[in-house]
Amino acid sequence: MYKTENGAILEPGEWEHQSQIEELRRRNEEVLHRTGMPPLAYVHTFGCQQNVSDSEKIKGLLRLMGYAFTDDTAQADFILFNTCAVRENAESRVFGNVGELKKLKRENPQLIIALCGCMMQQERIVQKIKKSYPYVDIVFGTQAIQTLPGLMLQVLDTHRRVYDTRMHAGQIVENLPVWRQGGVKAWVPIMYGCDNFCTYCIVPYVRGREVSRQPQAILQEIQGLVEQGYREITLLGQNVNSYGKGLTPAIDFPGLLQLIDELPGDFWVRFMTSHPKDCTPRLIDTIANSKKLCRHLHLPVQCGSNRVLRDMNRRYTREEYLSLVGYARKAMPDLALTSDIIVGFPGESYEEFLETLDLIKQVQYDSLYTFIYSPRPSTKAAQMPDPVDAKEKSRWFRELLELQDAIGYERYRAFEGTTQTVLLDGESAAKPGILTGRTQQNLLVEVPAPAQLVGSFVPVKLQKAVKWALQGVLAQEKEG
Ligand code: SAH
Ligand code: SF4
Ligand code: F3S
Repeated sequence: MYKTENGAILEPGEWEHQSQIEELRRRNEEVLHRTGMPPLAYVHTFGCQQNVSDSEKIKGLLRLMGYAFTDDTAQADFILFNTCAVRENAESRVFGNVGELKKLKRENPQLIIALCGCMMQQERIVQKIKKSYPYVDIVFGTQAIQTLPGLMLQVLDTHRRVYDTRMHAGQIVENLPVWRQGGVKAWVPIMYGCDNFCTYCIVPYVRGREVSRQPQAILQEIQGLVEQGYREITLLGQNVNSYGKGLTPAIDFPGLLQLIDELPGDFWVRFMTSHPKDCTPRLIDTIANSKKLCRHLHLPVQCGSNRVLRDMNRRYTREEYLSLVGYARKAMPDLALTSDIIVGFPGESYEEFLETLDLIKQVQYDSLYTFIYSPRPSTKAAQMPDPVDAKEKSRWFRELLELQDAIGYERYRAFEGTTQTVLLDGESAAKPGILTGRTQQNLLVEVPAPAQLVGSFVPVKLQKAVKWALQGVLAQEKEG
């Protein structure tokens, strides 16, 4: 067991790579004794929370190997980018960043450069790195995090480039050390991969098939986090609603949520992402009847036209989605709803896009994550005719943003004058003396309060909605 300076406890667990970690640690301790400085690692994460969570494991491994962290690539002895492949601009950003490392490697040939994550699970990307980025030393995929110590040793000892992008169907490596920052909010993956193959999406190809963690492992991890003082746990999965597939004894997502809700301690639980095709009234009832589950559902609809939904292979209709939303609103009038929207899916017409706007008006989302469709090689949608030009799609996109801007602001304003429980999560970077926090609905709150209250649940009287926050003052107690 190894206690870190931010209080996190790292336990390497029992797995085959432990001796490699020990060896790297021995070498890095020698550096520390010789120079008075531990070797420094720079880790940058692109993409979604799944990647953030993976990077926390990578950082856990790096800490055990004796690295400290830096935010400055120029100071680093080891540089790692954890990459995202979901849209084309995510990929180009990574290549831009990697290009900039060439100079650093020339100045410091000892520097080790590694790339990992979703992009590395695509053959064309690995080929491009092999050919055009010779200074990248290590490439590993989404299912090879635990092999990092071995890969590092190989590079150090052979000075050859190494690759591990193997997929291991059905395998979950438990007990990897996790290096979390912040101490208030923690990500906990409950499942990996995706079986849905929405026609636009690369994720099932780069993350492999769905596999769920054992409920005991999840409960133990959450219990440990709560004991360390974490106050908000976000459960992660590409489609948390299909949690439990293949586990014995049988358990489903509402069942898991009930077990988590019964754990002792003062904490909130969120989860993402919920696929509407698997979101049931039982799940909604579970949230409504729980003590710890936040009144917030991220339920990505993607678009409002049945024709487009069918071509996207989303497997629900607009009517089914709206009826689910109706059920949820009835069960929890204070529920916040958020969604992802794709504009300009191949073949989408302006009239079909207007159906999306109409659905958004009906649902009244608190906020939206909005994307212009980006063709991903090897997906079905990339083969579909896509006649609408980029300029036109941008025009639709702006129309969407304008609509949501107005709706979102009204949603914030509806909370003016109410008192809500807020989890204070940090100090405002721009405004001294102001703490930031979130309501159960995940609305951002700013409140003047002493810094020692970070990590507490406090009642806040919300006075004024500004864009995009609610300003308030500490209240004595929550009203109703
Ligand atoms: N599993 C989650 C989403 C993961 S990807 C779900 O099913 O909701 C996050 C979001 O990126 C998706 O919801 C979608 O809105 C967007 N996205 C995925 N592929 C995309 C593409 N090719 N172009 C544009 N947006 C895309
Ligand atoms: Fe992609 Fe669909 Fe899977 Fe989400 S559910 S990760 S959008 S394939
Ligand atoms: Fe990107 Fe991979 Fe997440 S493709 S969105 S980092 S699962």
